[in-house]
Order: sequence, then structure tokens, then C-alpha cells
Amino acid sequence: MISVFDDAEQLAQAAAERFVAAARAAVGVSGRFSVALAGGTTPRRVYKLLASDAYKNQLEWSKVHIFFGDERCVPPAHPDSNYRMARETLLARVAVPAANVHRIEGAGDAASGARRYEDELRAFFKGDEWPRFDLVLLGMGDDGHTASLFPHTHALAEEQAWVVANRVEKLRAFRITLTARAINHAARVVFMVAGAGKAARLAEVLHGARDPERLPAQLIRPLAGSLEWLVDRAAAESLPDADSSEETRATQN
Ligand code: 6PG
Repeated sequence: MISVFDDAEQLAQAAAERFVAAARAAVGVSGRFSVALAGGTTPRRVYKLLASDAYKNQLEWSKVHIFFGDERCVPPAHPDSNYRMARETLLARVAVPAANVHRIEGAGDAASGARRYEDELRAFFKGDEWPRFDLVLLGMGDDGHTASLFPHTHALAEEQAWVVANRVEKLRAFRITLTARAINHAARVVFMVAGAGKAARLAEVLHGARDPERLPAQLIRPLAGSLEWLVDRAAAESLPDADSSEETRATQN
């Protein structure tokens, strides 16, 4: 499902609403809410909204468990850290217990960090064959990557692991990321894509030929969960009949 919004602010509000709705539903059913946060810049506004008076009192933060879709291999206080971004915009502003924040330890050996994070996930999703996050938030790069699943990288083919260290040559760096298979077991996946710079790639991902090696975001197809693309009008520019605002259209693929 693709929902188009007039601008990035309306997109962020819609994402915050989805977060609250998913949290309330999950807590109502299981007494807890597990969410994997996206990194980058688009989610910043979403997290700030969630921490604002308009949203933060709509959910029980003591029942929220925060995970991360991916992390850069830097210390938690590094400007590039997704954890740092989430802490500054959200985690330091709401009453989520520290024990409920499951950080990916990016600094140090990436493979060890990936293993430790997967161990933490397996402890949380006790005995499950795959993690079933109540919600996974994702962004999409202008190269079609999502989380740290970059084009033509080793992680794309991973079938067994929930988390891997992924060498990203173009960044000349390792990243730690959930695998596509782990993401695809989520109950709900929401992409947030804003800006004209994403328009061409978004159209390819959603309506172009299937080529997940080149367009990893195409790997994300929840097996038994929902998938929604929240996009602003600028990013939707190259989509068919992209003249609507807040219109919901079924995804072709
Ligand atoms: C990261 C993110 C990454 C991000 C995309 C889009 O660690 O950077 O996980 O997958 O979602 O690069 O980033 P923007 O939202 O900043 O465009």
C-alpha cells in the first residue's frame, strides 16, 4: 500500500500515527510492543513528534521495546550513530526503560556486534524461528538500499541469520543490519521516503523490473504482515498518477 502526503511533515505525522496505532494494538494483545527503528535523517521528525505532547502520552512507554534495523560501526556517541539520533530525538524524552532499549553495539568488531545483537533478539523472541517485530520502520536510500542492505552486498543473500555484519564497499565501512528475511517476518513494515532525490529510484523499486541485487528495498515483502509506503509528493513524482495527496493506492507488485 502506498500513501502519498503533501510534504515531509504530513508524512512524519502519518508515521507517528502508525507507530502509536501499532503500539496500542500490540500492547493490547501481548502486553508489549517491539519496534525496530530506522536510522538516517527522515525518521528524525517522526521520533521528535512521538516525543512531543501531541503523541507521547498516547502509549505506555514502559511496555515499548526499542530495537534498531541497522547501525553504523561507530561508538554510540558518534554523530553517525543511529542510536545517538534516536536517543536525542526520542529515547531521552520519553519514559522508556533503559532495559527496553536494545542497542546494536556498532563499535569494535562488526561480526561480534552482529552476533551479540542477534543473541539479544533471540532472547527477546524466545525460541521463535524468526523475530516477529510488531513494527519495523525503514527508510530507503537514493540507491534503493534499506536498513544497511546495500546493492550488491553480501547481506542480501543471507538466508539463516537474523543479523549480519555487512561490508559496504562504497562506504568503505562495515554496517550491522537486520537481514531481509528477519524484517519480512514482522507483523508490520512501514517505509518512510521523502524528497525528490528518491523519486526515480522509488518508481523503480515499486514499479520497475524485479532486481533486488540492485534494488534491495524490493526484498522487503512481509510474509505474514502488512507493508505500507509513506511517501511525500516529491518522492512520489515519478509514480503513476502521482497527483494525489494522502491517497492510498494498492502497490502493483
Ligand atoms: C541508515 C538507515 C538507512 C536509511 C536510508 C535513508 O542507517 O542510514 O538505516 O537505511 O533509512 O539511508 O536515509 P534518509 O532517510 O536519511 O534518506
